[in-house]
Formats: sequence, structure tokens, C-alpha cells
Amino acid sequence: MSRIISPSMLSADFGHLARDTRMIDASDAEWIHIDVMDGVFVPNISFGFPVLKAIRAESSKFMDTHLMIVEPERYIKRFAEAGAELITVHVEAVKELRPALEMIRACGIKAGVSIKPATPVSTIADCLDAADLVLVMSVEPGFGGQSFIPGSVEKVRQLRQLIDTQGTGTLIEIDGGVSAKNAALLFDAGCDVLVAGSAVFKAENPQAEIRNMLNARIDQ
Ligand code: DX5
Ligand code: ZN
Repeated sequence: MSRIISPSMLSADFGHLARDTRMIDASDAEWIHIDVMDGVFVPNISFGFPVLKAIRAESSKFMDTHLMIVEPERYIKRFAEAGAELITVHVEAVKELRPALEMIRACGIKAGVSIKPATPVSTIADCLDAADLVLVMSVEPGFGGQSFIPGSVEKVRQLRQLIDTQGTGTLIEIDGGVSAKNAALLFDAGCDVLVAGSAVFKAENPQAEIRNMLNARIDQ
């Protein structure tokens, strides 16, 4: 199992986007998390292609793109062209999951599926072979800075078991309320990738916070 940190640019200072992107680029985070919200699937609007391209221009990290939009199928190709290397769609937002994942892979990039806190793991169990990653939302999608929903840990454990039984090698990512305080527990439950927005950008030393997350151990 891998240990990857994916800082969420939603919590960056948009007045200094290039500076914050370069700061993440110089950190031990392997990925960079891009939250796209349309104000329909979630009650908030974040940003779209121009901002994504601006981040892409300053970053050589693996671009992890989380689409919180309705009918994501309509925009997959454009996000791939804008530099996304992984596109994650919500199972609650797609018309049909498998074709949506296939559409992403057909762009030559990785395909992810996300589940909201109330969506059970069973809804995606028959598509794990078509998914490179499952993103477990540990807050209601829409805003940074919310508290981690504890029941999410059990969902990660269930998923870990399913993925290991099916042998699909699908990565597990968790997003919402993640920090160095719960990183050890989440890696231990079976997460490969931790997304963190406010924990990183509000830290006095964001790069140290990323290191602390990577090195977190249960017995600490
Ligand atoms: C929320 C987004 C998250 C958000 C996480 O809908 O998907 O990626 O940026 O923010 P924190 O880490 O502050 O909970
Ligand atoms: Zn996200």
C-alpha cells in the first residue's frame, strides 16, 4: 500500500495561486488535489478550466481532479486536455458509472469514483475493476474546513477488504477533515491517498504538516 498526500488547492490563497502551487510543488506531497464544484451537485462554486490550467502551469505533481458536478461525462475530455491525470466522478452524479469510468480511461488517464458520506460502498462494488481509485468523502462535499465524519473509517475498511478480495489494485483516497491528527488511523484502515486542504494551508508550516501526515504512526 502506498502513502500519498494530495493537498487540496481549494484552501490555497487565490490571490497568490502561483506562489501556493509552487510551495506544494516543493513539498513531499506527490499529488495535487483540484476540487471542481458547479453549485448544483454541491451548494458551492469553486473554479473551472482557467484556474486548473494556471495550477497545471506551475505544478509538476500528479493532478488529482475531483469533479463535484452534475453530468460530469460532458466535461471529462476537456478536463483531461487541461492537464488532469486522474479524474474522479461521483457515483451520485453520473448517468451510469462503468461507461463514465471507461470514458475517462479512454482519454489515457486514471479513472476514479467518489462516494458521499451517505452512499454505501456496495453501490460501487461491481465497478471496482474499472476504477483506478475510490474517493471516500469524509465530509459532505462542497466546503473545506469541516469536521471528519468518524463513520468514514469503517467504509474505508470495507472497501479495503472488497478491493483485496477482488484483486483490482484500486487505490483508496479519503477527503474531508483530514490532518496529521487522524492520518495514522486512516493509513492503518487502508487508505493510500489522503486529501488535506485546511490542515495544510492553515498550518504554520504547510510542508511540515505534509511530512507529519506522511510519517504518522499509530503508536505516536
Ligand atoms: C470538499 C472537497 C475537499 C476539501 C477538503 O468538498 O472535496 O477536497 O478541499 O478540505 P478540508 O481538508 O479542509 O476538509
Ligand atoms: Zn476534494
